[in-house]
Amino acid sequence: MGFYTLLVVAGLVMIGFLRQRRRPIPHPPSLTFLFENPIAEIFVGRQLLLERAGLAPGMRVLDAGCGPGRLTVPLAKAVGETGEIVALDGQPAVLRKLEERISAQGLHNVRSLSAGLGEGALEQGVFDRAILAMVLGEVRDREAALREIFTALRPGGILCITEVFGDPDYRRPANVRREVEAVGFRLVARYGGFPAFTLDFERPGSLPAEQPPPEARSL
Ligand SMILES: C[S@@+](CC[C@H](N)C(=O)[O-])C[C@H]1O[C@@H](n2cnc3c(N)ncnc32)[C@H](O)[C@@H]1O
Repeated sequence: MGFYTLLVVAGLVMIGFLRQRRRPIPHPPSLTFLFENPIAEIFVGRQLLLERAGLAPGMRVLDAGCGPGRLTVPLAKAVGETGEIVALDGQPAVLRKLEERISAQGLHNVRSLSAGLGEGALEQGVFDRAILAMVLGEVRDREAALREIFTALRPGGILCITEVFGDPDYRRPANVRREVEAVGFRLVARYGGFPAFTLDFERPGSLPAEQPPPEARSL
């Protein structure tokens, strides 16, 4: 490959990266190899993320932005037959891959849900854990998504957010914390750092009271 070809390829990659940061679109199924590979496994591997979520048999877990099920299968095994995983994704094509995986593994405790986060498709107050791995930056309306996850968790339930540097949608820990705490969560644990981190947030109770409009506040 000549120098100019390399330059063009590097330029196209950079344009794609910047475009994705400015206006994120969900990872298409053809790019699954970007987060299902041996290098990703070192930093955001299945076993590591499961440990950080503090799972136990019988739990109900939301795998939000599950993709083709990289984490869904080990999550389903960890909660066992008395538990349940709801695997939600906005792309029907990735859910078809997930369903193939689930049936190949003979799992009966996974329910797939084709919906966008923040659209109100989730039951309220039922989940012990919500997993958001390499998803937050892809979500256009993060506040609506986080509010929906807040209400979907039972009080005391935990939201585990993992981000990895190099993902065009990467969110820095301080930004994640600010956005997540703004909807009422409380940070309870941090793991990792660079290039990948997980922050665990607890849903302490009910939603914080709606802020009054500015004119009412100044009265
Ligand atoms: C990079 S993949 C991560 C998959 C999985 N969490 C993992 O760790 O292997 C991000 C997934 O989030 C989904 N996603 C992005 N925005 C979403 C939204 N607003 N609602 C539901 N799913 C969304 C995408 O469709 C994609 O499958």
